[in-house]
Amino acid sequence: MPRTELEGLIAIPAGAIVPESLPDFKIYIPSPKGGYVLWAGDGRMVTKEKLERLAQSRQEKVFIALGEAVKYEEYLEVHLDRILESDFATDEQKGEIFAKVSTNVVRSAFEHSASGIIQRETLIRTEKLVINALSFISEAKSLRPLARMIGNDYKTYEHSTKVLWHTVAFLNQNHDLLIEILKEYKGPQDSPTKEILMKCGVGALLHDVGKALIDPAILNKPGPLSELEWEIVKKHPLVGLAMLSDTEVPLYITKAVVQHHENFHGGGYPLGIERGSITILARVLRIIDTFDAMTSKRPYKDRLRPSEAIRIMVRDPTTATQTNDPRDKGMRFCFDPDLLRRFIVFLGRVRFDIDI
Ligand SMILES: [Fe+2]
Ligand SMILES: [Fe+2]
Repeated sequence: MPRTELEGLIAIPAGAIVPESLPDFKIYIPSPKGGYVLWAGDGRMVTKEKLERLAQSRQEKVFIALGEAVKYEEYLEVHLDRILESDFATDEQKGEIFAKVSTNVVRSAFEHSASGIIQRETLIRTEKLVINALSFISEAKSLRPLARMIGNDYKTYEHSTKVLWHTVAFLNQNHDLLIEILKEYKGPQDSPTKEILMKCGVGALLHDVGKALIDPAILNKPGPLSELEWEIVKKHPLVGLAMLSDTEVPLYITKAVVQHHENFHGGGYPLGIERGSITILARVLRIIDTFDAMTSKRPYKDRLRPSEAIRIMVRDPTTATQTNDPRDKGMRFCFDPDLLRRFIVFLGRVRFDIDI
């Protein structure tokens, strides 16, 4: 194989390439003599034997040209289900690949919905993503890669991915909630819980889709919002409802989207409803959404450690000792206490033994 010196190569995990696939981008590996050699992407199928030989050589990274990154990302989305089941990728790599694909899908969903209408193709793509990732993100082995994302900077698309991941993993560990969700919405009672879990995942991924219509200058403002800007942001659950109302998304999902900022003891928005009037999925999203927002870094706010975020979420605001940080105000009355307790149990299974 001829050696080549290539500028502008980027490393990708070797585990992203699945057997019997035909990448339409060139893949290089380092040559022992220096430079790189073409490994795949020459129009021939990548066989299992070829991947095994690569794994034996302990080559964890392969390289592609920066100019072919879009083709690579399309490859990841098309093959996501196989990558997440592949023996050639580690759980960490699977987590990173899922997060990358999911973030791309959410970004595209937001960009294609800026007219106020969610296209059918957008929903199909979103649903396909959740279906392809469902087994991986609902399993305990995915919690460690999820924990690694906690504490990242707050970005709407990545936030949506983390809310999806937490929601699916949490509900999968609380099957009785899925049964309750099914009963609550009086849907066809023979729907398998896997189907409900998938739909809940779509709702989690799109919970903030109403923000697609809000001026990005407000959403990305590197400082606290003015009162008027805050009022605009608070419209996103209703905007999300309007965007989803003409689609095939089931009512139990649109209800969760519109109610995800309602407080269990009242005083939330947009409707100010409380307790049992708030659907279970919306109550779950209220907890997970808050946890992710508090543990993410904003330009004007430091992230909180998961334990600090939870302390504030369980604290009674009427007895809390006030400090200089307004976030120390207890949030206990925002959440369904039973679900909050379950969420804390769930978090105990996410391994936070890394520096977060
Ligand atoms: Fe929201
Ligand atoms: Fe959110």
